[in-house]
Amino acid sequence: MLREPMLRERVPKLKHLVEPDRVHRLCYTDQDIFDLEIKNIFEKTWQYCGHDTQIPKAGDFFTFQIGRQPMVMVRAEDGKIHVLYNRCAHRGVQVCGSRKGHAEGALTCPYHSWRFHFDGTLESVPLEKGYRDTNFKKNDPAFSMTPAASVDIYRGFVFAKLDPSGPSLEEWMGPAKIAIDDMCDRSPVGRVEVVQPYNRVIQRSNWKFFMENQLDALHASVTHQSAGHAAAEVEREIKQRTGSAPAHLKPLSAVLMAFGGWDALQTANFPHGHSLLQGYLAPRPQDPDSLAYEALMEKAVGRARKEEVLSRSIHHVLLYPGVSIQPAMQQLRVLRPVAPGRTESEIWHFRLVGAPEAIYRRSLSYYNLVNSPSTMVNADDLENWQRGQLGLEGSGNDWVSFHRGMGRDRIDDGVLLSGEGTSEAPMRHQFATWLEFLEARK
Ligand code: FES
Ligand SMILES: [Fe+2]
Repeated sequence: MLREPMLRERVPKLKHLVEPDRVHRLCYTDQDIFDLEIKNIFEKTWQYCGHDTQIPKAGDFFTFQIGRQPMVMVRAEDGKIHVLYNRCAHRGVQVCGSRKGHAEGALTCPYHSWRFHFDGTLESVPLEKGYRDTNFKKNDPAFSMTPAASVDIYRGFVFAKLDPSGPSLEEWMGPAKIAIDDMCDRSPVGRVEVVQPYNRVIQRSNWKFFMENQLDALHASVTHQSAGHAAAEVEREIKQRTGSAPAHLKPLSAVLMAFGGWDALQTANFPHGHSLLQGYLAPRPQDPDSLAYEALMEKAVGRARKEEVLSRSIHHVLLYPGVSIQPAMQQLRVLRPVAPGRTESEIWHFRLVGAPEAIYRRSLSYYNLVNSPSTMVNADDLENWQRGQLGLEGSGNDWVSFHRGMGRDRIDDGVLLSGEGTSEAPMRHQFATWLEFLEARK
């Protein structure tokens, strides 16, 4: 819980913890700072709920957290998606108890059977006469499941915000909405659908480790070296046997690129803390499956548009504070922070509607190679972050260095562009945003 007096003490000191090129280790370990992050960042900004194809039928629901708030996303009979606090208006019990499910006709509380319409309003209570001559009023919003202050859907991706103030979803995403556009545009009909099940991982590290790591171009060829070598070896073996290397291993073997190659990339850092890494591994193989897909795209959207879409080279996009999207691979990860040293992540993947099955299999293969419970790739990252958390809980050195590339960033039309691919510009950018949110006294 938020200990307000202690926080009031600490908030003025936050700016001493964040310098332009380094931050204090307490930013990752301190419970009060974590509480403030939840209150001022996660419970104030647009948060990813899920994809509309997760809940195709009326009554389908999916539960998740926004900050500390238990939430449920549910589809109503008219097709509309509602995002509600998952809390019964009677005595507070979570109405939907499982991660996902289907409710017939209404959301029914398991405790005393209050029933709620899918928009959260109260449908009925048992023995209503028991409330005769009391202040209970069926139409009073106090007796509804409370809706999120704002809900918006962008090309099927559902977001909610608990604070009624602030920018619209599209204003908030700004240029970073290319994350969703680039994924959907790769479908001949401009749509994606989620493929279940998804992976959930408990990371024993602060949520910021994950966000910093996603655009950390320097770590890939170090941390993922063994996975890269293994992929390259299998590629070689298949090529010897069949005459051509399979396209699905290339994203993994490519991490063996020399440091100089990573430095030739670039990150772009947008308002509200979002960033992307571009120039890496334009995923446009020329094998027969890919060529068939390209022909289908050309038929659907025309040659010029196909070229525009398929020649994009965006590796990762971060929607601050907790979403990471790889559009060309149709992958999305979303963070649900639990404690300073504990973060839950959901890892989703999508199918390009109308694209050949082989293209989906490639996305699925990448999903498993990078994110399955048995992968070496995610395991290597998780190990680094956990060891990072343990290191920062010690007091041998109070500072975390973000000096790499400092002074060589440039601002172009409001976008901060890194001088080199391995610049720690995204981390500096994230912390500048972080400080703005945490210092807001609302
Ligand atoms: S707590 Fe939900 S019906 Fe009583
Ligand atoms: Fe990694």
